[in-house]
This record gives sequence, structure tokens and C-alpha cells, in this order.
Amino acid sequence: MLFEWTDSPEEFAERGAAHAAAVIDDMPEAAIALPTGSTPIGLYDRWVERAATGEVQLNRAHFFNLDEYAGLPQADSHSFAAFLHRHFLDRAAIDPARVRLLRGDAPDLEGEAAAHDAAVAAQGGLDLAILGLGGNGHIAFNEPGADWNQGTHRVPLTEATRIANQAYFEDGFTVPRDGLTMGIGMLRKARRVLLLVTGVAKAEALAMLRAGRPDPAWPVTALIGHPHLIVVADSALRG
Ligand code: GLP
Repeated sequence: MLFEWTDSPEEFAERGAAHAAAVIDDMPEAAIALPTGSTPIGLYDRWVERAATGEVQLNRAHFFNLDEYAGLPQADSHSFAAFLHRHFLDRAAIDPARVRLLRGDAPDLEGEAAAHDAAVAAQGGLDLAILGLGGNGHIAFNEPGADWNQGTHRVPLTEATRIANQAYFEDGFTVPRDGLTMGIGMLRKARRVLLLVTGVAKAEALAMLRAGRPDPAWPVTALIGHPHLIVVADSALRG
């Protein structure tokens, strides 16, 4: 586990983008799982800039989303699919044939989860999982107590996560009760993991990771022992 401490939002975005770009340089056809939330927006901005100048070649990579709200069509502006289109995929003109996003409104959510796993497996598994962190230690939508051996599956969201995510919507939208998420088993198998952590709300979860004791009450601790885990975090969280 390699920690990289950053002193400004610019440096945070820059370091995250640089690590991810290094993976793509090594593996141009990398299968990459993408996060949503406020944390990765700066990284996406930098990718978009660099894709435009040719500094990073994103056109052979394969992209997947980590998670999605259950019940929402991709076209719904509140969906994670719409978020990824808005912040990254459309702006970087990523070929839709190289993108697989979960369908939160699929009539058979278990079937949809299995299809996501099959699409990742068809690329030989994940080469890079880019992750944010929930204040309760969740990664993607793997909440405290989650099974650490699962692939993509449906999950009930905790009240803490629903409240945290509600803050992004001021238009009367109510955060759904369930989500679809890549499971911890799948994320742990990613060849490389880039965990992005910013904001004091994440301090306790990050401290649990740094303590080095795997604990199912803190899903992020499932990453302890991963052979290629890089954590880019705010210096303010260094303690
Ligand atoms: C959501 C997402 C996670 C994300 C987390 C943190 O719950 N499902 O994948 O990491 O929020 O979001 P933020 O970066 O906005 O703090």
C-alpha cells in the first residue's frame, strides 16, 4: 500500500490522473472501473484535457462503472451513468463500444449484475479499479458488513449513504433505497487499485485502512494486502 499525500485540490487531481495514466500507458487496452461522487471530478477533468492533447490515449481502454442506483434509467440525470457521461465519457469522446454501464432499470437486476461481470471477464478482469471512499468505509456501494467475495450484485443502501448522497441533489429527487455494485471480491482481484480520499468526512475510514487490520465493518480494509494499491489523499488526513 503506497500513500501519496497531496496539499491542494489541484495536486490531488493531478496525482490521481497521473497514476491512472501510467496504468493506461502500460496497458493501453486496460479494463477500468470508474467511480462517481465529487472526489474523482478533478481526475476526469485532467483526463479530458489530456485526451484532447494526445498526452493520454484513452481510445483503446475499456470502461465500466462501479455502481449505480437501482431503478434509474441511464438517461436519468441522477444516475451514475449520466454522471460519467457528463464528467468524462462524452467530453473525452470515448467510443460507446468500449463502455459498459450498469442498467439500474433492468427488469432483472440479478441478470444485469451477471452481465456486468461477464463483460468484465471478457476483458480478462479489471486492470484498474479507481475508487472513492464513503464516510462509513464503503467502496463503490459495498456497505459495512458486505461479503468480501462477491461479484456485481444488488445491495440495500445504508441510511448514512443515502443521506450523504442526497446532498448532491437539490431538485426534489430522493436517493433510491437500493443500488447495484461491483463486489469486493471483484475489486480485490483488480490488478491495480487507485483509492482517492479527500475531505474530513473520510478521516475515520482512512484511519481504519492505515491501521492495517482487515475488518468487515469497514469495507475499505478489504484492500489491505493488495499488491498494487495506491492511495492518493489529502495531507490534512495524514494526522
Ligand atoms: C457514493 C458512491 C461511491 C463514492 C462515494 C463517495 O456512495 N457509490 O462510489 O466513492 O459516494 O462520494 P464522494 O466522492 O462524493 O465523497
